[in-house]
Amino acid sequence: MGYPTLFRSLVAIFSLAPLSMAAYPEISDDRCDCYLTNGSSSHYFTTHKFFDFRDKVDDAGVPAIIEDADESSEANATSSYLSSDEWTDYWAIQSWNNAAVLSSGVSDASVLMAHSPNNVYIEKNQDENADSSTYLTMRTARLDDFQTACEFESAIRNYQYLSVRMYARTVGAPGAVTAMFTYRDIGDNTDLTAVQESDLEIRTLDPPDRVQYTNQPSYTSMGLDVQEATRNVTIPNQRDWTNWAVYRMDWSPGMTTWYIDGDEVASISFQAPRDPSMLIFNSWSDGGSWAGNMSVGSEADLQIQWIELVYNTTGSSEKRSDTPSHIMMRTEGEENEKRDEGSCYNICSIDQREETGTTTLVQGSAPKTIVSWVVILCLALFAW
Ligand SMILES: *[C@@H]1O[C@H](CO)[C@@H](O)[C@H](O)[C@H]1NC(C)=O
Ligand SMILES: *[C@@H]1O[C@H](CO)[C@@H](O)[C@H](O)[C@H]1NC(C)=O
Ligand SMILES: *[C@@H]1O[C@H](CO)[C@@H](O)[C@H](O)[C@H]1NC(C)=O
Ligand SMILES: *[C@@H]1O[C@H](CO)[C@@H](O)[C@H](O)[C@H]1NC(C)=O
Ligand SMILES: *[C@@H]1O[C@H](CO)[C@@H](O)[C@H](O)[C@H]1NC(C)=O
Repeated sequence: MGYPTLFRSLVAIFSLAPLSMAAYPEISDDRCDCYLTNGSSSHYFTTHKFFDFRDKVDDAGVPAIIEDADESSEANATSSYLSSDEWTDYWAIQSWNNAAVLSSGVSDASVLMAHSPNNVYIEKNQDENADSSTYLTMRTARLDDFQTACEFESAIRNYQYLSVRMYARTVGAPGAVTAMFTYRDIGDNTDLTAVQESDLEIRTLDPPDRVQYTNQPSYTSMGLDVQEATRNVTIPNQRDWTNWAVYRMDWSPGMTTWYIDGDEVASISFQAPRDPSMLIFNSWSDGGSWAGNMSVGSEADLQIQWIELVYNTTGSSEKRSDTPSHIMMRTEGEENEKRDEGSCYNICSIDQREETGTTTLVQGSAPKTIVSWVVILCLALFAW
């Protein structure tokens, strides 16, 4: 190989570099050994899940509110998607009520609150210039004699560290709370010393540009506020919680960090959760001092276009009997497989990408596409 040929080969090799740096290549999850998140709470995680509610036209429909508390709790899932394995393998829609809490007087709740599967449904997006066909709605409404509410929790109960994002907004009347939070299920939630929980909460009583972030408990057994546990944050860029935004919460060792549309807005190390936890979404009110009262006939909704998370789970699963056992098996299987590889060769990202829901390869070896083979072949011919 003479000097000019070598020179041309080098030119060819270097001209490949900008090509591969222009954008990270899309890659399927089964080729990812781990996921690296960005921001100050950047960490590696073993598993990725994406739940997309943007294009479920066949499941769309707003169910009429059920006006009886018991009947509303007994209601079925509102669409075939929400009764399919695709959903129920990962999320459990709740139907409990606060009757016991109300009568025991351990909280300042003043209204019967009943969770209903009927309040979780796929709705048509009727926005002007809508950026999706549908979304998932979580409804809470005040009826004459009770508050109808909703909640769903993860089937996985042993997340240990995660980065979760939802593309969501909150709309409706004052007196409700919409939330996304980690929760350590210890059975007895009256023991404040055992509480471990990181929250994003939107109080519809608050000004629309405010959100509240907390590592619970935010109060003492004497009823005093714990200021270090909580942050009252202004949503950046003159936006408010009625606008669609990506709400991200990173639960990391020793710290929880929150972002809105990629901007870090809060981080709290005080009382950061330590032990395996689950993930919960809800929309509720109980007439207590935190949520306030909703007026009879009014409603508030958390609307979600998608939920995405990267996470680790612990080996010591603390599953409850209602958790489908194949979930735990599959999750641990996936994780162990990746851990057994020892190191993470293909590092993937859900941040460095053009299209929502996709995964890109940020380090490692991408599968060669036809286009890249053609480019390599041309360059080789050219060099030759
Ligand atoms: C993460 O990367 C995306 C894409 O480059 C960017 O939009 C976002 O602001 C970043 N987030 C943080 C917290 O750095
Ligand atoms: C998640 O698990 C991987 C593999 O064990 C580990 O390298 C990584 O540090 C863990 N992430 C966190 C946030 O603990
Ligand atoms: C819920 O679904 C079950 C099984 O399909 C049915 O038997 C039951 O009547 C339904 N309940 C309600 C309240 O619609
Ligand atoms: C957050 O701050 C705003 C503005 O001061 C206030 O109106 C709101 O009530 C506060 N929210 C909480 C939960 O403290
Ligand atoms: C909500 O209303 C009930 C009775 O209507 C009242 O007892 C309670 O104090 C109210 N709660 C708040 C936070 O105003």
